[in-house]
Amino acid sequence: MFTRKPTSRFIFFTLILVLFLSFLITIKASDPTPNANDEEDLEGLEELIALDEEEERQEQEEGSHSVRSSEAEVLTKAQRIVLELNNDNTKRAIDGNEFVLILGYAPWCARSAELMPQFAEAATSLKELGSPLLMAKLDADRHTKAASTLGIKGFPTLLLFVNGTSQAYTGGLSAEEIVIWARKKTGVPLIRISSVAEADEFLKKYHTFVIGLFEKFEGPDYDEFVKAAISDNEIQFVETSNIDVATVLFPDIKDTNHFLGIVKSEPERYTPYEGTFKMDKILQFLDYNKLPLVTKLTELNSARVYSSPVQLQVIVFAEVDEFKNLLEPLQEVARKFKSKMMFLYVDITDENLAKPFLTLFGLEEAKNTVVTAFDNKISSKFLLQSDLTPINIEEFCTRLLDGTLSPYFKSQPIPDNIEASIQIIVGKTFDDLVLSSPKNVLLEVHTPWCISCETTSKHVEKLAKHFKGLDNLVFARIDASTNEHPKLQVDEYPALFLYPANDKANPIKLSTKSGLKELAASINKHLKANDHVKKDEL
Ligand SMILES: *[C@@H]1O[C@H](CO)[C@@H](O)[C@H](O)[C@H]1NC(C)=O
Repeated sequence: MFTRKPTSRFIFFTLILVLFLSFLITIKASDPTPNANDEEDLEGLEELIALDEEEERQEQEEGSHSVRSSEAEVLTKAQRIVLELNNDNTKRAIDGNEFVLILGYAPWCARSAELMPQFAEAATSLKELGSPLLMAKLDADRHTKAASTLGIKGFPTLLLFVNGTSQAYTGGLSAEEIVIWARKKTGVPLIRISSVAEADEFLKKYHTFVIGLFEKFEGPDYDEFVKAAISDNEIQFVETSNIDVATVLFPDIKDTNHFLGIVKSEPERYTPYEGTFKMDKILQFLDYNKLPLVTKLTELNSARVYSSPVQLQVIVFAEVDEFKNLLEPLQEVARKFKSKMMFLYVDITDENLAKPFLTLFGLEEAKNTVVTAFDNKISSKFLLQSDLTPINIEEFCTRLLDGTLSPYFKSQPIPDNIEASIQIIVGKTFDDLVLSSPKNVLLEVHTPWCISCETTSKHVEKLAKHFKGLDNLVFARIDASTNEHPKLQVDEYPALFLYPANDKANPIKLSTKSGLKELAASINKHLKANDHVKKDEL
């Protein structure tokens, strides 16, 4: 199955893709047996159902007090929280409402369970805010017909329907972020604040926001600001025309009648915008400045983190307690590389998040703090190999930025090859034993998981015996799952390369599908051909 090469680039992009999709898609097969996750699912569901019932009861109580409330109205009100969809009512819900946000979930899916309470909380907040949005959920596992009509394939899936037309959800997955996104896309892209008292209230609720100060809420600059507010997917925008209000939200405003800035939680609280008022420029500014100095990577935020245009990432893997001591020095370093480099923290005990990365460095068993970096422009990975001190981390980052840091290549320890008929090559010895060797080298590249590798290995062993007398030909083998070298780029496993003694830069790829005789003939042919070249050159 996995005969494709896991070169670092491939693994890395696969990894990003997996992280990207993992919050949307959980394959059912991955969770076939009842386990702790199921319990979590149930808890999440129960919480949600309890919330719904609670709302319903309140609604009904309110209804009985009010003579005018008809049964239908009560029902409609209750449904404003989270409407439970099924095969019968889904179409009606979508057709009968201008805005519907649907959560497609499956009871066994842990990520659905994580999202549901957030979704319900968002529904409650949106209702309080008077939003026209109908929030609905669909057990896509049970109501497969409705799910397939909506195109729900993975879980959880969020879809917004505007007048019957669906669009993908692009916001964050916390209750607060769902509210912000939903309002942006349903006609309330920003909040206007007119008094200091309102500003104080606002600050109690929001820690990250964009503030725009305008003399008048009109004109081209203002229009661009509003366009940016709608187009952005996660940050609450506020506007004001009152400088006193503005300085409550963002002290030290220089231009007192025209200002834009982003406010985040400590320690990097205020960043003013200095560019022109164009939507693209404003959004770009936000992309580079919205993340905190150090972001804790979680399953819920990984997609957003990876959509950042910042190509250099420093990722620290550590236990929670150890990281506490590292956070402040790391923030100091991060401040120096602000908007050029992203600093992420991953809990090293969180296997799902940490292991795929650590495997890229052969450090999947690591317990102590590991500092890594990635340059996504050139698909390279880096490892801090000096002591873990703030100065060393800073130097690591400086060299990452100026491109002088050496990429990391995995290697097993150097093995003892004395007397071996087939030399074992590792990442560290590839240069010496293959590229710089004065002999012809036949290299077998294998991985532990590839299916036909074993057959090829047997062939190579027989070939090594067959060519034993030929002392200008060396047989060698490398495990590509644990060893990497920049010059070893393999698409498929197993692979056989003949590195001619006089032309190491151009290895000849031999077909691993060939039989033993064919292989032997092919080796002979190439060795002779190269001999000729040599002789011709002489
Ligand atoms: C949805 O349709 C109604 C009726 O045609 C229209 O008034 C409204 O503007 C539409 N909403 C959006 C967001 O396009």
